[in-house]
Amino acid sequence: MTTKAVWYHKRANLDPELVSRITKELQDAIPIIYPEFAFNKYLVRGNFHDKIDQDLFKELLPSMAVALKQIGIYDMWHRTGLVSATSYQPVKIHRDDIEGSVNPKTIALNFPIYNCEESITSFYEIKEGVEIIETQEREISSGKPWTKIADSCLEEVDSVVISEPTWLRVNKYHGVKLKMEKTTRIAASLRFRPEPLDYVDSL
Ligand SMILES: [Fe+2]
Repeated sequence: MTTKAVWYHKRANLDPELVSRITKELQDAIPIIYPEFAFNKYLVRGNFHDKIDQDLFKELLPSMAVALKQIGIYDMWHRTGLVSATSYQPVKIHRDDIEGSVNPKTIALNFPIYNCEESITSFYEIKEGVEIIETQEREISSGKPWTKIADSCLEEVDSVVISEPTWLRVNKYHGVKLKMEKTTRIAASLRFRPEPLDYVDSL
């Protein structure tokens, strides 16, 4: 039996009224903070876009501030990325806590923006008893080379459709696939420093 984590994903259970306002604000913010996606959405490659002006993002998302303040984690909101995936360029299986990271990235709070109901985020663990094969990959955001365990050594242990705000354990192997062809999905991924691990564990 492959050893599993206590949890890989958890619904954030935010106020639904606020969530619909946040979704609208995120959709309106995309053309401003990420014009490449807004104008060419079906050609954008599966990637993690983290070159986002956090101050501008906060300005464009007043409801996000309200929601995060309600649960006491607004001051820990440190940065935000956009995770895009297409049917021909899924988000490859990776972990966010690659060796050499300055700050550990254990959890992320993801919000659906476009077509997330058409995508599946899956989590993986190393198969029991397999010979570990390493492959050379490139970090999604920076393109820096890093070493990871080959996909063939990994077993899918859990999955979630991010149809509503969801906490993800991003220090576990994970990837995103699209269920439908010719679809681009995009989600916002909020990162916290320090990370509110006790809060999320208690959900
Ligand atoms: Fe990730």
